[in-house]
Amino acid sequence: MSGFGRGKVILLGEHAVVWGVPALAAGLDRGVLAEARPARIAALACAPWGTDDPLGADTELGRAFSAVVEAHPRAPLPPLRVEASVALPAGAGLGCSAALGVAVVRALDEATGHAASDAEVAERSLTWERVFHGNPSGLDNTMVAHGGVARYVRGAPLERLDVRRPLRLVVGDSGEPSSTRAMVEGVARQRERDEARFDKSLAAIAALVENGRLAIEAGDAHALGQLMDLNQHLLSAWMLSTTALEDMIGAARAAGAKGAKLTGAGGGGCMIALVESAEHGAAVARAIEALGFAAFETEVG
Ligand code: MEV
Repeated sequence: MSGFGRGKVILLGEHAVVWGVPALAAGLDRGVLAEARPARIAALACAPWGTDDPLGADTELGRAFSAVVEAHPRAPLPPLRVEASVALPAGAGLGCSAALGVAVVRALDEATGHAASDAEVAERSLTWERVFHGNPSGLDNTMVAHGGVARYVRGAPLERLDVRRPLRLVVGDSGEPSSTRAMVEGVARQRERDEARFDKSLAAIAALVENGRLAIEAGDAHALGQLMDLNQHLLSAWMLSTTALEDMIGAARAAGAKGAKLTGAGGGGCMIALVESAEHGAAVARAIEALGFAAFETEVG
């Protein structure tokens, strides 16, 4: 009785998406696998973290688990023990908490014989995300439930993109965990300080996203890479980049990446670099690893 939630990367538009601007994102192959079995006590255990939270525990995982169990369409549920295996770094911008939420929702559905569409799974796992992130745009749980390459606008159904050529990415992990909630609050404070300027940045990101969509649909990696670089400038201006992220981005560009940027909430976590071939990908990954950071290659679309 297992459920899978994939990780995700944001290609363009993180943070701005919280304020209603579209974003482009892609599902990853790696993620979280969860299994639910009847048990004496309902609980959620996560490996490799070694956590074991009974239903109703006053921890973030315990509260999130209770939220999705209590809101289940077949509630009240018999006691179920969910065991999750997490193959994503947490707090790294790859959608780990959303992937766990989606995996848990799917495992509960399997165990109770409830058939749900991806859209329903995405909606129910938003309750989970709220426990961790306060004011999530819904992008993470939606992408994680659907996968593929898509354009997302807060509150609207996901729009799948017609990807002309699969996108090859290198993901570099700074190893610095960051809090999405804190980073989103930091951006909100910048908006309070100068709303007119903030709105100009939102308009600029909206234009990058719409051009990014055209680039993906046309298979134009060169244009998409340039748009990613421009998005990175705007994210840095919102104080979301770090020295480690900048170092990895610089190394990726120097090793021939078409473009590179942080992905997700920033303040640590991961960056992505767009590359044209497996050969370029290997060179970019090596350049990131030479700085002492972990990197992996993936293809999306
Ligand atoms: C986090 O993966 C993406 C953010 O835009 C937050 C959100 O969309 O809720 C930073």
